[in-house]
Amino acid sequence: MSIPIILGIESSCDDTSVAVVTREGEVLSCVTASQVEVHKAYGGVYPELASRAHVASIIPTVEAAMEQAGVVVGDLQAISVTRGPGLIGPLLVGLNTAAGLGLAWGVPVIGVNHLRGHLRSADLVERRVTYPALVLLVSGGHTQLVRMDDARTITLLGSTRDDSVGEAYDKVGRMLGLGYPGGPAIDRLAKTGVARIAFPRPMMREGLDFSFSGLKTAVAIHLESKDVAGKEDIAASFVAACLDVLITKCGRALETFDAKSLVIVGGVAASPQLREAATGLAEKAGVELCLPPQKWATDNGAMIALAGWDYLDLDSVPSTRPQPRLSIVDF
Ligand code: KG4
Ligand code: ZN
Repeated sequence: MSIPIILGIESSCDDTSVAVVTREGEVLSCVTASQVEVHKAYGGVYPELASRAHVASIIPTVEAAMEQAGVVVGDLQAISVTRGPGLIGPLLVGLNTAAGLGLAWGVPVIGVNHLRGHLRSADLVERRVTYPALVLLVSGGHTQLVRMDDARTITLLGSTRDDSVGEAYDKVGRMLGLGYPGGPAIDRLAKTGVARIAFPRPMMREGLDFSFSGLKTAVAIHLESKDVAGKEDIAASFVAACLDVLITKCGRALETFDAKSLVIVGGVAASPQLREAATGLAEKAGVELCLPPQKWATDNGAMIALAGWDYLDLDSVPSTRPQPRLSIVDF
């Protein structure tokens, strides 16, 4: 193969995902070993079991990704691998595997910030993002608004003060007995309900920060009340409250600078309701809406591979030390 390609490895949480991606963001393969079955019984990610499942699946996943892409070791420009934020055990599995492969294959290894992977995911398959861009990151661990002036210049505008919106989806999903992960199950249920319960919209009236723990508590209190609504109406009302907050904050942030595009990334960006609401806002604000392909909104190796290209051009050698607490503005 003559075009430059990067192998991306993601193992920061509960998915082992490996992809082969070109500099232009073309995804030649992306193979993911899901751990949903491992963690289902616990209602959330069980870190030690996650580490062991990564150990078992990582080499077969690398082999499958290389084979599906039809590439050989000599084709690789680099291996990029998530170095944080995430669970220390799962991160170590990915980083050590990448280090071993890099040494054996004679290929450089780049430690990538998982959040930067999400930020770049809207350029997978085809280039969409035009700068400056307003980016809303809504993952399981983060809810943040950032301004991106180019692929590597990031300014943090707002962040959650407590739970992330994804966490709220997962916790409310658990309260409604929908199992793990809660996000997709809540989306499906919400479509069949009516948003008739006026759940709070925390911190919606001002600023660019978020708070979701009060909304989660409001759902818990409602579930203990005498006139508890049907699960579908609770799900629909919860989703309506989340979207109201997210879209209002995006609209407010768009007023603070002359953005060309609105980018929404992270697991919750897989939500059809959020994608639809964002379409309305982008039209109203006159900006391009750039979303990752739905299947690559959640964690995947392709976004880590694509972000790897941004690091290759840096002057300093990117660190491959594990960093469970990396921030979005860090490399
Ligand atoms: O980005 P991600 O895969 O992992 C982290 O980096 O945290 O995000 C996972 C989060 C979970 O909270 C999950 O419930 C949520 O994304 N999620 C969704 C959907 N798919 C995943 N939330 C709403 N609708 C979905 N379809
Ligand atoms: Zn993620």
